[in-house]
Amino acid sequence: MTKRARDAAEEMAHDLNNVLAATLGIAEAILARDGLDPETRADIEAIREGARRGGAAIRWRLNGPGAPREPAALDAMIRATARLIAHRLGDGVTLALDLGDPEGLTRADPACLDRILLNLAANAGHAMPEGGTVTLSTRRHTVAAPDIRVPDTIPPGDYAVVAVADTGTGVRPDILPRIFQPGFTTRSSQGGRGLGLASVHAAARACQGFLSVASVEGQGTHVEVHLPRETGSTHVPSPGGSAARRAKPRALQPSDREIQRR
Ligand SMILES: Nc1ncnc2c1ncn2[C@@H]1O[C@H](COP(=O)(O)OP(=O)(O)OP(=O)(O)O)[C@@H](O)[C@H]1O
Ligand SMILES: [Mg+2]
Repeated sequence: MTKRARDAAEEMAHDLNNVLAATLGIAEAILARDGLDPETRADIEAIREGARRGGAAIRWRLNGPGAPREPAALDAMIRATARLIAHRLGDGVTLALDLGDPEGLTRADPACLDRILLNLAANAGHAMPEGGTVTLSTRRHTVAAPDIRVPDTIPPGDYAVVAVADTGTGVRPDILPRIFQPGFTTRSSQGGRGLGLASVHAAARACQGFLSVASVEGQGTHVEVHLPRETGSTHVPSPGGSAARRAKPRALQPSDREIQRR
């Protein structure tokens, strides 16, 4: 990055930080009021979380990943991001959660994961103009031999996998290998710039992850990120600061299955 571009990025980060700090302050002032109905409280909490995560995303973008992070529960991170994603999807699109790796820990930065998941969710929403379902899922996957996928080859190892699947238009097989190229878009008339997946790919790399996509035209698209899976027995912090215990195996809770936009 040239010095001029870096100065411009820092100025923009400064401006955005100010706006986000103001948003955070307003949200906290409203949350301090008595008598808020639960639905309004949940909405304002989502705004506060969005402002916090926006700030973290700016810091992550400007400063890079920084020092290695303590392992944190992936499922808890996904659950927190899902609240934001639910508000990012179009009308008629339902968000389903299928979190299947309660023991899985990752060192991925939450801001990095947000960038991946928000971009993938935006694409999924665009691919379902008539509505449909976006499913966010996690699972454990052990790779025994190099697994050649598009766009990455996944080396052997133990992984916590996070996936975003949609029931949308799908991608034509001939263009599938090109969709991660910066600037490739089939949505230029709707303002698409072909930057989303290139940025997802870069973010996956930054958190030592590997990306893969599978798609069937007319049926939908499934994008996965394989993250190096950590295990441990200590309590770990979750994004947003609250203490999260290393989750015990548990049945999928009904509230996990579907987050409906209001
Ligand atoms: N979930 C999906 N379903 C169908 N096609 C997809 C999906 N995700 C990506 N694509 C295809 O890949 C192309 C590139 O996606 P990418 O996110 O990089 O750019 P974009 O969405 O077109 O624009 P931008 O992200 O810059 O707004 C899209 O134009 C679309 O053709
Ligand atoms: Mg996009």
